[in-house]
Amino acid sequence: MNLMLFGAPGAGKGTQAKYLIEKFNIPQISTGDMLRAAITNGTAMGMEAKSYMDAGKLVPDSTIIGIIKERLGQADCKKGFILDGFPRTLAQAEALEELMKNMGISLDKVISLNVPDELIVGRITGRRVCSKCGASFHVEFNPSKVADICDYCGGELIIRKDDNAETVKSRLEAYHAQTAPLIAYYTDMGVMVELDGTKDVNEVTQDMFALLK
Ligand code: AP5
Ligand code: MG
Repeated sequence: MNLMLFGAPGAGKGTQAKYLIEKFNIPQISTGDMLRAAITNGTAMGMEAKSYMDAGKLVPDSTIIGIIKERLGQADCKKGFILDGFPRTLAQAEALEELMKNMGISLDKVISLNVPDELIVGRITGRRVCSKCGASFHVEFNPSKVADICDYCGGELIIRKDDNAETVKSRLEAYHAQTAPLIAYYTDMGVMVELDGTKDVNEVTQDMFALLK
C-alpha cells in the first residue's frame, strides 16, 4: 500500500504514521526526519537545510526531490510506504508522480489530517520527539509512558529546535501558501480523503484504519 499523510505542521502526521507502520509493516518516509538526521550527521545537505528549517521555511525542491528519489529506490519500499511531510509543493508533487510512474506504481490514498491553525501552536509547543527514532509525543495530549523516554525505542525525548511559537507561524504560512494547494491536486487525482484531525489520537487512528479497510 502506497500512502501519504498530509496536513499542516503539528496535524499529527508523524504520530499516525507510527500506527500505520505497526499495522501494515511498511516504512515511514519523513523528509523532516531525514533532514534532521542529515543535520545530526553534519552532512553538506544537512548544513544547507538547517537554515531553512530553523526559520520555518521550506528546503529547496531540488534537495528534497533528490533524497526522495534515493529513498523510494530502496528495497524496503517495494511492499509500500507512508509518505510523511512530502510533497509540500506542486513541483515536488509533480516530481513524485513522474518518479512513481517510472517505478510502475501509484498512490493508493492521500490522508489529510484536518486541524485548524488555532490548535497547532499548543500541539507544537508541547511536543516532545524521540532523539533516536523521531516518534512524537505531547506532554499533555499524548504523553509517553515514562517521562522523557520513547515508548517505541527507549530513546531520550527532546524538544525540536523549530518547535517554538515564532517558527510555527512561518511554518503555517509556508503550509498555507505552498502546500495547501496540493489538496486540490490530489482531489482531482481521486485519491484524497479528509479526516477530522482534532479528535483524540486513538480516535483519529481508528478513523484512518476504517478508511483503509
Ligand atoms: P517536518 O518534520 O515534516 O515538520 P512539520 O511539517 O512542521 O510537521 P510536524 O512534524 O511538525 O507535524 P506532524 O504532523 O508530524 O505532527 P506530530 O504527529 O508530530 O518538517 C520540518 C521542516 O523540514 C520543515 O519546516 C521544512 O523546513 C523541512 N522540510 C521537511 N519536509 C520538506 C519538504 N517536503 N519540502 C521542503 N521542506 C521540507 O504531532 C504534533 C504534536 O501534536 C505532537 O506533540 C503530538 O503528540 C500531538 N498530537 C498528534 N495528534 C494529536 C491529536 N489527535 N490530538 C492532540 N494532540 C495530538
Ligand atoms: Mg512530523
